[in-house]
Amino acid sequence: MSMREKLDLLERRRAESELGGGAKRLKAQHDKGKLSARERLDVLLDEGSFTELDRFVVHRSHDFGLEEQQYFGDGVVTGYGRVDGRLVYVFSQDFTVFGGSLSEAVAEKICKVMDLAVRNGAPVIGLNDSGGARIQEGVVSLGGYAEIFLRNTLASGVVPQISAVLGPCAGGAVYSPAITDFIFMTRHTSYMFVTGPNVVKTVTHEDVTMEALGGADTHGGTSGVSHFTCDSELACLQGIRDLLRFLPANNVEPPPRGGSIDPRDRRDEALLDVVPDHPSKPYDMHDVIRRVVDDGEFLEVQKEFAGNILCGFAHLGGFSVGIVANQPAVLAGVLDINASTKAARFIRFCDAFNIPVVTFEDVPGFLPGVAQEHGGIIKHGAKLLYAYCEATVPKLTVITRKAYGGAYDVMSSKHIRGDFNVAWPTAEIAVMGPKGAVEILFKKEIAESTDPAAAMDQRVAEYTAKFANPYVAASRGYVDDIIDPRDTRLRLIDALETLQGKRDRNPPKKHGNIPL
Ligand code: HXC
Repeated sequence: MSMREKLDLLERRRAESELGGGAKRLKAQHDKGKLSARERLDVLLDEGSFTELDRFVVHRSHDFGLEEQQYFGDGVVTGYGRVDGRLVYVFSQDFTVFGGSLSEAVAEKICKVMDLAVRNGAPVIGLNDSGGARIQEGVVSLGGYAEIFLRNTLASGVVPQISAVLGPCAGGAVYSPAITDFIFMTRHTSYMFVTGPNVVKTVTHEDVTMEALGGADTHGGTSGVSHFTCDSELACLQGIRDLLRFLPANNVEPPPRGGSIDPRDRRDEALLDVVPDHPSKPYDMHDVIRRVVDDGEFLEVQKEFAGNILCGFAHLGGFSVGIVANQPAVLAGVLDINASTKAARFIRFCDAFNIPVVTFEDVPGFLPGVAQEHGGIIKHGAKLLYAYCEATVPKLTVITRKAYGGAYDVMSSKHIRGDFNVAWPTAEIAVMGPKGAVEILFKKEIAESTDPAAAMDQRVAEYTAKFANPYVAASRGYVDDIIDPRDTRLRLIDALETLQGKRDRNPPKKHGNIPL
């Protein structure tokens, strides 16, 4: 064979590999409203930047007639490319080849890109669309999953790991995405469950649809398993690109700077009126965040889950920051089980990847109640406390209104290594709110008074004047300053600049034991 003939053969084989499981199955994929594995990579990566690895790998199984059906690449497309010019490693499961199921060969291909990502310090992005373990390969496939889980765990905190679930994801297959840092799901085409509706029906006699059991809205809003819920695959893939703008490539690189020209000393007059005069009137903490960060751009994580706490990324003076904020508009911003676990994981991600944490605080405390106590609010709340205590990245806190009780301590207080803690003049930093405090301290006096309402009002006024303000905390240095809300942006940016050289570390240990 001449060189030209050999090149022709190579071209034919390349073309064959592009077709995955064949034209018919590709059409079926499109008919379901889904893109193919390769089309997804085209959308995700900068144009022309994809380099494929292991294009000619095939499975090695000879059982159940599998030797008759071999497809170049087997059930996954792997390689590397660029997002906004930055290197990422990718795998994209190909549902047209045995339902994207995981063979030994597929697992080896995925492990190869994960190993390269860790070695070269770049994020791994997995596009999942798979019927789970390749049934014909039995335990070899299960072994392949375990190899991936191990790599997910070892890469955790070393390089960012992002999963998109773009099809069914069942059985153990959900656990690889679950270990990664962020999960994206698409409405009506992606599902995650340990056991599907049929097994559920057999075991618990519950009737449930795929959508209700493990669809994007279920995991975005109810279970909190996923972080981003998207209306389409295009939105999902664009969402991954957007997220990467805030993340460093690995745990020793600084996060990328934003390109905004928003002036660092921009003052926003509207911040004077965000917090209502009445202490129990709600307001939307989004208004504060958007008025402070660069260009008002806030990429919210787990938007549909535990709305009483907000987590997300922004740029502030060009610095990438993770924002954690109590949300007075939802459950008065109280800390409950879901809010605690949501924010704890987010803070640990930021800390692992050198992203400063900025906290906006207006919190009445932890949510009381039997359901919360029996659900373990003690251990779940402790996760948030642990995460803040453990974090050594720059920690900045703005108390806009309430900082009551244990929640004051938890929300990045000075005592747990807060670097820059300021309060607005509207702040109330105390063990509890005036009414609750007076009811405890002056119960007898008020009950015996000839005018209990007037006695109550008088004591509340006294307590408010004495404790429900930021000055007691400021007099101790527990807040560094009380600031004009309009200066919040400038003061935070100034603090971030100051903290660029921050050196802080925890005592040497194998690892801590976060309450789980
Ligand atoms: C081999 C599979 C497969 C699998 C699907 N296919 N799943 N081949 N192993 N696990 C093949 C089908 O035979 C079919 O081949 C093609 O993929 C498309 O499948 P369909 O069923 O036609 O597609 P659809 O109707 O869209 O249903 C998709 C599905 C369903 C919901 C994923 O296929 C399904 O339930 N599959 C099995 C899921 C499962 O139980 N997996 C094991 C989970 S346990 P043709 O030739 O017709 O194109 C597990 C253990 C992991 O994963 C443990 C780790 C700890």
